[in-house]
Amino acid sequence: QDIPNRKSQSISEFANTPEKVSDYIFPLLHFAAEHVPRAKHKETPLYILCTAGMRILPERSLALLIFVFTSRRQYLKIWSLISPLYAWIGINFVLGRFEHTDDEDEAVVEVHIPGSENKEAIIRKRTVGILDMGGVSTQIAYEVPKTVSFASSQQEEVAKNLLAEFNLGCDAHQTEHVYRVYVATFLGFGGNAARQRYENSVFSSTVLKNGLLGRQTGMTSDSPYLDPCLPVDAQDEIHQNGQIMYLRGTGDFNLCRELIQPFMNKTNETQTSLNGVYQPAVHFQNSEFYGFSEFYYSTEDVLRMGGDYNAAKFIKAAKDYCATKWPVLRERFDRGLYASHADLHRLKYQCFKSAWVYEVFHSGFSFPASYSNLKTALQVYDKEVQWTLGAILYRTRFLPLRDIQQENFRGSHSHWRSFSFVYNHYLFFVCFLIVLLSILLYLLRLRRIHRRMLRNSSSPSLWMEEGLPPQKISAAL
Ligand SMILES: *[C@@H]1O[C@H](CO)[C@@H](O)[C@H](O)[C@H]1NC(C)=O
Ligand SMILES: *[C@@H]1O[C@H](CO)[C@@H](O)[C@H](O)[C@H]1NC(C)=O
Repeated sequence: QDIPNRKSQSISEFANTPEKVSDYIFPLLHFAAEHVPRAKHKETPLYILCTAGMRILPERSLALLIFVFTSRRQYLKIWSLISPLYAWIGINFVLGRFEHTDDEDEAVVEVHIPGSENKEAIIRKRTVGILDMGGVSTQIAYEVPKTVSFASSQQEEVAKNLLAEFNLGCDAHQTEHVYRVYVATFLGFGGNAARQRYENSVFSSTVLKNGLLGRQTGMTSDSPYLDPCLPVDAQDEIHQNGQIMYLRGTGDFNLCRELIQPFMNKTNETQTSLNGVYQPAVHFQNSEFYGFSEFYYSTEDVLRMGGDYNAAKFIKAAKDYCATKWPVLRERFDRGLYASHADLHRLKYQCFKSAWVYEVFHSGFSFPASYSNLKTALQVYDKEVQWTLGAILYRTRFLPLRDIQQENFRGSHSHWRSFSFVYNHYLFFVCFLIVLLSILLYLLRLRRIHRRMLRNSSSPSLWMEEGLPPQKISAAL
């Protein structure tokens, strides 16, 4: 069954009218409610997770939205921003990489379970790593099967925040399902953000040079700044501080790659990637990666080589594309030769973005040019892998029955340990009750006999005064 389509709108759009957010959330809740038995509604947790869009809301709006949700019902609410970790879990789940291996041909890795370094390594299915480049950020996540060492204690401190360790087993004791995953997000390293940083730098350095050398480069469309990262003769403008700088493409892919190299922000330290951020070694001979978003668009939209990535073929196609004159590209575009979602923006920045993707992958993340286990993809299999799937798997991995059952098991365990002690007390108590009951029955019987005797002889009032003597009762007790 289809989930009500909410794509056209997002919660953050209700920032100014939080009271209307119910119209948005109720169809979703109804959908969920239909799939959960009524009796379980009360104990079913509801998770509300947010993408980075929520981060940019003003604090007051966010507080109001939270209030609208929390004042509704006694659901368990967890607010959290998404992590590439969710995507990693979702994809590996869909690909069946968390299952036990029974096929000899299947790729496996030797894993040192985190937290049990002295124990023998186990053999487990190889998981896939993911690379995702959006407009603003680039993300990477992959399993680190072996225990890692660090160049310095400083690096170790940083690494701790980038290495997620979690158990996907049914309970915390199933350590064979513990995963150690490197997860890093690089803000400013997405395709559009990179182009922006590049343009900012072109603008300021050109203005500086013009001032020093008395030139007018880029100030008019007749003397444009020559940009090797735009296709030949493609025109572009940079607007900054009320000034316009005119660009014209020269379509030199290799020169473009060289020019964008500084924007990787590499350092000379070992085991680091973009921005000098720690990156544990990747086992290039035994690993598998999926590249999403820009990795897919830049290989598929116009170059039509999405899927199995081959660096040499990609470079050749990207070079040819950059070196093609803009009017020719436009004409091909108008004839519908490119993917349906490729637009003019794609056409213009494809040259830059293919160079950027290439450099991020090979220079930033240090994958060798011969690496042959990267697949670029829009989705995995037919199911669109969304971070939500991974988020649910991660958030509910121990929830709720397994843990509850385990608690009960532990509970009965402790009963057995204290059994003899408790048992003795019960026995004593039961004996005491039996004795007490016998006495009561005896007294009742005595009274009935006494009453019968009184009825046969004199008035009832006499019975009251002459009832069983108190000494006799206490003696019986
Ligand atoms: C790259 O490094 C420069 C200089 O250290 C710094 O100003 C810039 O913020 C860095 N870029 C990103 C995206 O972190
Ligand atoms: C890295 O570069 C800095 C200065 O740029 C230098 O002082 C340092 O020795 C270099 N480190 C290595 C390991 O090359």
